[in-house]
Amino acid sequence: MKFFVDTADVKEISELAATGLLDGVTTNPTLIAKSGRDFIEVITEIAGIVKGLPVSAEVVSTDFEGMVREGEKLAKIADNIAIKVPLTMDGLKACKYFTNKGIMVNVTLCFSAAQAILAAKAGATFVSPFVGRLDDIGQSGMQLISDICTIYNQYDNFTTEVLVASVRSPGHVVDAALMGAHVATLPPSVLKQLVSHPLTDKGLATFLEDWKKTGQKLA
Ligand code: E4P
Repeated sequence: MKFFVDTADVKEISELAATGLLDGVTTNPTLIAKSGRDFIEVITEIAGIVKGLPVSAEVVSTDFEGMVREGEKLAKIADNIAIKVPLTMDGLKACKYFTNKGIMVNVTLCFSAAQAILAAKAGATFVSPFVGRLDDIGQSGMQLISDICTIYNQYDNFTTEVLVASVRSPGHVVDAALMGAHVATLPPSVLKQLVSHPLTDKGLATFLEDWKKTGQKLA
């Protein structure tokens, strides 16, 4: 399973990239606004930090021509840019346009299995179902992931990777892994939460205390 980080904060991206656990980065217009930085400048910097790993950069036009214009500009930044388009008819058309050119596409704002089927048919590299936002309105985000994984597994010609987005907790990540989702994009806080367990902390403290008693040095 691949882990992407969902942020436009270059400091956080650099720190997480240094762990070797990162497989890519996703951004969206809200995260860019939060960074307070110039869009092109920050995406260029991120693409350089995680060289060779997919970096999703989202178009803001809603019509096909506008998406193509913006996507082409973003794709020129680096080879590892995945153009992020919304799951609309124009977005799917733009998806097909870019994938035909060998450019990665992340179809975002997916909230139903029917939409995910269309993203696969449009040749998307990634489809991003938003689990947290579905949970927020009383629906099951994880049921959607399960449905999409089941559907995609039935067809050899569906090569789109399921990129679980709007992740709110380690539980979402574990459930997604159990379902065989290819990727989860995590806010840095959730990525850090994944490593924590109170028994790990307690066990480590005991081992270190006992080691001290031996009076030995290892290095
Ligand atoms: C994914 O690509 C999106 O940027 C993101 O996961 C949205 O998450 P949110 O619902 O927490 O805003």
